[in-house]
Amino acid sequence: MCGIVGYIGTQQAAPLIVSGLKRLEYRGYDSAGVCIISDSGLRIEKKAGRVAALEKFVDIDSLSGTVGVGHTRWATHGLPNDVNAHPHTDQSGSIALVHNGIIENYVTIKKKLLNAGYTFRSETDSEVLAVFIGMLYDQLNDVELAVRTALSEVEGTFGLVVVSTHEPDMIIAARRGSPLILGIGNGEYLVASDAAAVIAHTRQVVYLNENEMAILRRDGFTTKTIENVKTRSVVEEVSFELEQIEKGGFEHFMLKEIFEQPTTFHDGFRGRLQIEEGTVRLGGLTSVVDKLRAAKRIIITACGTSWHAALVGEYLIEHLARVPVEVEYASEFRYRNPIINSDDIVIAISQSGETADTLAAIREAQLKGATVLGMVNVVGSTIARETDAGVYLHAGPEIGVASTKAFTSQLCVLTQFALYLGRMRALSAEQGREIARELALIPEHIRTILRGADEVRRIAHEYSSVSNFLYLGRGFNFPAALEGALKLKEISYIHAEGYPAAEMKHGPIALIDDNMPVIFIAPKDEIYEKVLTNIQEVRARSGKVIAIADEEDEYIASIANHVIRIPRTLPMLTPILASIPLQLLAYYIAVERGCNVDMPRNLAKSVTVE
Ligand code: F6R
Repeated sequence: MCGIVGYIGTQQAAPLIVSGLKRLEYRGYDSAGVCIISDSGLRIEKKAGRVAALEKFVDIDSLSGTVGVGHTRWATHGLPNDVNAHPHTDQSGSIALVHNGIIENYVTIKKKLLNAGYTFRSETDSEVLAVFIGMLYDQLNDVELAVRTALSEVEGTFGLVVVSTHEPDMIIAARRGSPLILGIGNGEYLVASDAAAVIAHTRQVVYLNENEMAILRRDGFTTKTIENVKTRSVVEEVSFELEQIEKGGFEHFMLKEIFEQPTTFHDGFRGRLQIEEGTVRLGGLTSVVDKLRAAKRIIITACGTSWHAALVGEYLIEHLARVPVEVEYASEFRYRNPIINSDDIVIAISQSGETADTLAAIREAQLKGATVLGMVNVVGSTIARETDAGVYLHAGPEIGVASTKAFTSQLCVLTQFALYLGRMRALSAEQGREIARELALIPEHIRTILRGADEVRRIAHEYSSVSNFLYLGRGFNFPAALEGALKLKEISYIHAEGYPAAEMKHGPIALIDDNMPVIFIAPKDEIYEKVLTNIQEVRARSGKVIAIADEEDEYIASIANHVIRIPRTLPMLTPILASIPLQLLAYYIAVERGCNVDMPRNLAKSVTVE
């Protein structure tokens, strides 16, 4: 979603800000803008479309000044056009801001301002905040005080950066519900909504806390709460390298991330899996071991792909640890006044660690007394910081909007969590050893599947012009079917649905004709024979069957139109392997259709609004 980059220092701010904005493009946006404090006042340039459109519109190098701020906007209030793009200014044009998040009471504030004679150019809530700060400045004659006063009156969420000609050697940053990071340089500072925008300049960062603000000058910075109480900031090191957020020779980030999975999966269990003891060491959960032992129920909450991982988690935990598990969409959980007991464990799964609905769900669970754990990829993200304990995914930065490697890392961590919990309960060391051994083989299995990518590309070529797809799987692979369908629709815009295979005859079978490809995830497990029956039902209606099946399954080739092979593993680990060809299929189909794979239309990488 929206991205922020601010700079104060000795270098020309504009090119530095624009290159930072480019690093944030992956998050999804529809307009871009910059504001530089120049000798003649604030110089603001903004444009609908990509950062490249802004660069075409204005010579970035001509924007002279060493203090400034830039923004990529993902429209919420008002169309994605030039006027609604950020930065926005106050009425006098001397205070500019960029804003991520939503000002919920902007209508009330706007009415007050309109009554007082102020006017507005855009339809945005963010401009209301800029004009409000300007009005307060006129009364208080102090930029920082005006910002603090305004922020104490607004409801909603913000990651905010303000610059002003009244204080040309200062930047103010503030956050509530939308992340901001300070990049600490030598005589210069950056502020950004994502570490990816600062890492080319510095690895030293400060993560602003909720309700915290920072005042940045060339010779230092201070942090305080929005209520003006000084805070202590901790300088941390960014945990990834620059090359991890570059394409490294691949055509798209998504393809690079698919091919990274042997490594990222391995990183998810390295130092954790204890094969000989048949168990797992999860250091991040040490403080809650007693609660885990006493847990009567586990609720997993998440959105999108992470919610699909949660569904696999439900099967895994119930299977290995025999603890009842419920999986909830975070967006539903947060509003339906869920029944939560103090011996419940609530787990939030999130790649970004910033998803607004998931964050709200964990706050609700904490309010009701549950122990809340996080399974999060982005180190230092809000969910990681607000949960009582947790396990990082260690998948590294995921830039492609469609989640791939984070999903398999979520399954890696969930499998280990289920094993860990199982071993605290009835699971024997021998059973644990078998699972641990098989899990450790997964990176090699993924490598084997990736070697067959060309075969998936051929199948993709054959089906790239169809309008609908069905994805079917059972047991552990029902969520894998949902995830396969989501991947395809996100990046290729083909309508796709996932179902438990046996549900097909309760409705979706009506769709099947010779134009309908149906993907079956059919490893040899205890319900394999049932899935074969479902395949026959599709063939009897002339549907096209693409089966994902075990290497040594010879029979399936006689009833399916295409077979994509995956190595043999435990049934509980098959969704991990089945996901790889499904990611490749979605990718190759989207490329054939000429879609923007890494930045699909309307989508954002990190959904920080409701
Ligand atoms: C799909 C996808 C989204 C996210 C969802 C939750 O490819 O990426 O469905 O999974 O928006 O995001 P996180 O995991 O960051 O909470």
